[in-house]
Amino acid sequence: MHDSIYQHGDDLVITQRTPVSDSVVELTLQRGNGGRLPDWAPGAHIDLILPSGRVRQYSLCGDRWQAHQYRVAVQRDPRGSGGSQEIHDQLRVGDRVRFGGPRNNFRLAPATEYRFIAGGIGITPLLPMIQQAEHLNILWRLLYLGRDQRRMAYRQLASRYSNQVTVHTSGHGHRASVKQWLGTPDPHTLVYACGPEHLLDALPDECAVLPPSQLRLERFSSPLADVPVSRESFDIVLSRSGRRITAKSSDSVVNVLSDAGIDVITSCSRGVCGTCEVGVIEGRVDHRDALLDDDERSRNDCMFPCVSRSLSDSLVLDL
Ligand code: FES
Repeated sequence: MHDSIYQHGDDLVITQRTPVSDSVVELTLQRGNGGRLPDWAPGAHIDLILPSGRVRQYSLCGDRWQAHQYRVAVQRDPRGSGGSQEIHDQLRVGDRVRFGGPRNNFRLAPATEYRFIAGGIGITPLLPMIQQAEHLNILWRLLYLGRDQRRMAYRQLASRYSNQVTVHTSGHGHRASVKQWLGTPDPHTLVYACGPEHLLDALPDECAVLPPSQLRLERFSSPLADVPVSRESFDIVLSRSGRRITAKSSDSVVNVLSDAGIDVITSCSRGVCGTCEVGVIEGRVDHRDALLDDDERSRNDCMFPCVSRSLSDSLVLDL
């Protein structure tokens, strides 16, 4: 079991299992008693706690106004760590999984126009955003990139919204030009993008026509994951009790806190889901998450202790 907090998590039953491409299956999940589920907004994700104990995060891709069901879509990843294979090979209609959340690190902010960029399974958080833009009658366009049409889920978007959706496959060696597709957008346009790292890494340049704050990215992993985190020992000070604990060179902050009897809820343990956020009162954080932008980092008032450590001799946490 990865996370004891979930031992008491709610159960969901899989009520539908629908292939939505050659490699993606969509699950519809409901409470066993059919009861209402927690509300959510476009960009939100839930944790699924699989029968094996693996915890995985999936964007909610259904209709937020259907209060009694969640929908997620899962791409089989043969090179992954087993979560998607377990879902594809073992989970069937009627099986139960527990869930945590929903949480939202990718909120749809007001804008005069939206541009959505999806790479492969990155389409999932964008579907409810498109639905919201349609409801509000706000202009939107989608650039949907993939290697092979057969693997791209929800391709029917292209026929339903033929004037707004551009599908581009790289299978024949042509590269999409995001810059060209973006053109000269209204200055209050927001760009939302989700997909593989190489796509997201290229977008700040491709979207340079807009201020950086108007480009919002949802990542599957932290771009800083391979950058060595500070390995110096430092003290963690708990502001509410004044207690001081030392984090040695190899300890993660979450583990140090847990050994001291302070449970911080974790889920992804990779700095991408936002579950473990704690407030920082003093000290300089060595951020290694994929969640905070530069402004939020410079405020230095929160951290994700599953991956981040300290650049100062001590960190005073709001715990
Ligand atoms: S557990 Fe997901 S960000 Fe820390």
